[in-house]
Parts: sequence; structure tokens; C-alpha cells
Amino acid sequence: MSDDASPLWAGRFSTPPAPEALELGRSLHFDVRLASVDVDASIAHVRALQDAGLLDTEEAPALEAALAAVGDDIAHGRFVFHDADEDIHSAIERGVTDRLGDLGAKLHAGRSRNDLVVTDLRLWSLAAGHRIDGLVVALAEALIARAREHAGTVMPGTTHARLAQPVTLGHHLLAHGWALARDLERLREWSTRTSTNALGAGATATSTLGLDPLATAGRLGMQRAFENSIDAVSDRDFVQEFLAVAAILATHASRLASDLTRWTDESLGWASLDEAYSTGSSMMPQKRNPDTAELARGKAARVAGDFVSLTALLQGLPLGYHRDLQEDKEPAFDAADTLELVLPALAGAVATMAFDVEAMRAACGNEGLYATDLAEALVRSGVPFREAHRRTGELLKRVDEEGRTLADLTDDEWERFGVPEGSGVLDPDRSVRARTTAGGPSPESVRAQADSLARIVSASAVLS
Ligand code: ARG
Repeated sequence: MSDDASPLWAGRFSTPPAPEALELGRSLHFDVRLASVDVDASIAHVRALQDAGLLDTEEAPALEAALAAVGDDIAHGRFVFHDADEDIHSAIERGVTDRLGDLGAKLHAGRSRNDLVVTDLRLWSLAAGHRIDGLVVALAEALIARAREHAGTVMPGTTHARLAQPVTLGHHLLAHGWALARDLERLREWSTRTSTNALGAGATATSTLGLDPLATAGRLGMQRAFENSIDAVSDRDFVQEFLAVAAILATHASRLASDLTRWTDESLGWASLDEAYSTGSSMMPQKRNPDTAELARGKAARVAGDFVSLTALLQGLPLGYHRDLQEDKEPAFDAADTLELVLPALAGAVATMAFDVEAMRAACGNEGLYATDLAEALVRSGVPFREAHRRTGELLKRVDEEGRTLADLTDDEWERFGVPEGSGVLDPDRSVRARTTAGGPSPESVRAQADSLARIVSASAVLS
């Protein structure tokens, strides 16, 4: 570099950039997070240059050592950034050149920031995906542990948020767990596609220097190299897919959070969040608010926004690198940061919350919860379902009009209704046990689900 304050591309220019143009172009304040992967990618590139005979056995190790030292300085806050450092890639190259002089000028042969930034972002997002995968596993394991504890705890199941049929608390908790298992599957599939090296693609048309992108992939622990150099520098669907997976995951977290706020509503009283995951009110001394759950719910909005931002950025953009693509990073960073905040808090809330087993059982005293069981008892004795539905509805209407309850019906009345064991049907434990279908709410099913979910969740981690 001729002059410390000149941009990397100054050779062809006579006029320096306007300060406001420089300011608009700067990304260092956010892409500094790519520093360590940029060093890794640059070291892999140095080896590719050495393999191609463009660096000798002294130059390559010197460049690698300088890159590692710059990376270390950045990690420890010792690196002095200059105003002219537009982004992390140019800052690191400048740091290497400051250390090595002329030799530093050999680093950028056969590469462009276009292939470098994509490779960096792939490496960064794989590492973020790996961390998020671990956090999803931890949340799923918290749900599984609580579900095993409450495999036989009866509670009213709802549809339309209205009492529907008895279920078990373990069954409901595992429903959230199965959603997370799909998120893990999505993350793991995404990571396979994302594990692609773009270095060697250059600005758009590779180079004449005989670099081997596959060898670079191997050095970066990536599964493959790009198949098409234009695609390599244009593709951001790995970020878009990461954000789609993140948005779905955040949606699942928000729905779990929503159930936690509902169950801990004191007018329902089925559960309470541990004080460590609750907050008080600045005005009302009695309050214990579920802010952890509310924020887990609310933060899903910004992750969805991150996906929408990137999708809007990409749609209609012609192939090739465009500076617009610099806008891909903040949504990716924000989504990962948000999930890394939400998931551990939610796992802690689930692990420590107290369930009021008796309140849930008491809520199962609502006789309407057994209406479907009664209709199905008629079906088992040969009554067509539509007729069974009507007869059960009429029975409920009659006892209601007479100011009685189903529990008041005599054996004779049950006999006439067609279900001699009628009053025995009004039992939540019996109701859940009678549902022998795999995947149903019975305690046996909950235990079997917990076992298979635990196996799936621990099966394989996302690539890093
Ligand atoms: N900071 C840029 C980005 O994040 C790096 C690539 C710049 N490439 C270029 N041709 N100006 O996209």
C-alpha cells in the first residue's frame, strides 16, 4: 500500500473518496465480528498460494504468522484500527502489510473481498449455527426432563383456548420439544449446504493463478468447494436459509413462551415461574411478571424481521457481487444474537418453573372434557358417530337444563344413554390412559416420546 490512508483500490484513482461516501461504505463496526474467520480463511488462502508456487517456504509461514498475530491483536483489543479501514478484510490485510511490508502485498493474489467475505460469512454462520444447535438441544432436554416428571400429570387440553379433552402435561411439553427437533433437523441440513468454500472464485471469474478451491475447502473444514464462481460470489441463500430457520425457531420459542405466560396467569394458576425468571413491578408490590417469557415471545418479531430484510435485499438483485450485499451481515448477526439470548433464558425458565399439579387436576373436573369420550363409548357399541355426537350433546343440554351434572346421573340413566360405565368415564386418568394410540397423551406414550425425542436431539450436532 502506497499510503496508509489510501483505500485498497487507490491506484486507478486521482481523487480520494468523499468522507460521507467513506462513511456510508464503512462496515468495520459490525463486520469486525468476522475477524477470526477472516484470519482462518486468509491462512487457507496463503496455503493455496504456496501450493500454486506463488509463495516460497519462508514467505508462506511468515504471512501465516502475521495473520495469526493480527487476529490475536484484534481478539485482545490491541489492534489499532485506522479511519481508512473500510471493513475487517481490508483492516486485516493492512495489519499484515504493516508487519511484513512488501510480503504483505502478496496476500491478496487470486482473491477478492467478494469470495473472501462469502467464505467468512459461511464460516461465521456455521459456528453460530453450531452454538444455536447446542442451545436448542439444551432447551429440548429441559422440556424432556419436565415431561418425564409429568408423564402422568393430567391437565385440560384445549382447542381455541377452550377446554377440549384431558391430556397430560408431559404430552403438551413434548409437543414443543418435537417442534424443536424439526428446527434441529433444519439447522443440520442447512449446515451441510453451507459448508461450501467460495475462495478461489475471485471477484467473479476465478483467477489465472492455479489455486485449488477444494484443497482450501479441506483446510477450512468445509465439505466442498463452489461449482460456479459467479454463483459463489452471488449466493446469499445460505444466509437467507439460516434466517428462515432462525425465524421458525424463534416462532417456536415464542409459542412455548406464550404457553408459559398463559399457564402462569394467576387466574388459571397452573404453574409459576421461578423468581429467578420473573420480575416485579416498579409500582405494584404484589406483582410477579413473566417478562422472560414475554420477551422470548416478543423477540421472535425481530428475527422474522431479519429474514424479511435479507429477502427484500436479495430479491431482484442481478448475479455478481453488489455492494448491497454488505447489508447481509447485520440481520444474520442480530438473529443469532437474539436466539443466543432467548434460548438459554427459556431453558432456564422451563427447568425451574413449578407446576401446580392439583390445580391442573381440579381443572379436569369440567365434565365437558369427557363428552368426546362418552360419544366414542357409544361408537364402540355400534352407534354411528354423528348420532353419538348428537345424543351426547342432548345429554349435556338436558343435565344443564335440569341444573344437574353428569356426576349426578344414576346407573339407570347411564344404561339408557347406552354407556353403562358412564360415571367412570368422567376420570382424567382413565381418559388419557384409554388413548392408546402412539403419539397420544397417555403416560406410556409420553415416556416413549421422551425416549425417542431424546435420541433424535442428541443424535448429531451441526457442523462447525
Ligand atoms: N465489506 C464488503 C461486504 O461486506 C466486502 C466486499 C467488498 N467488495 C467490493 N467489491 N467492494 O460485502
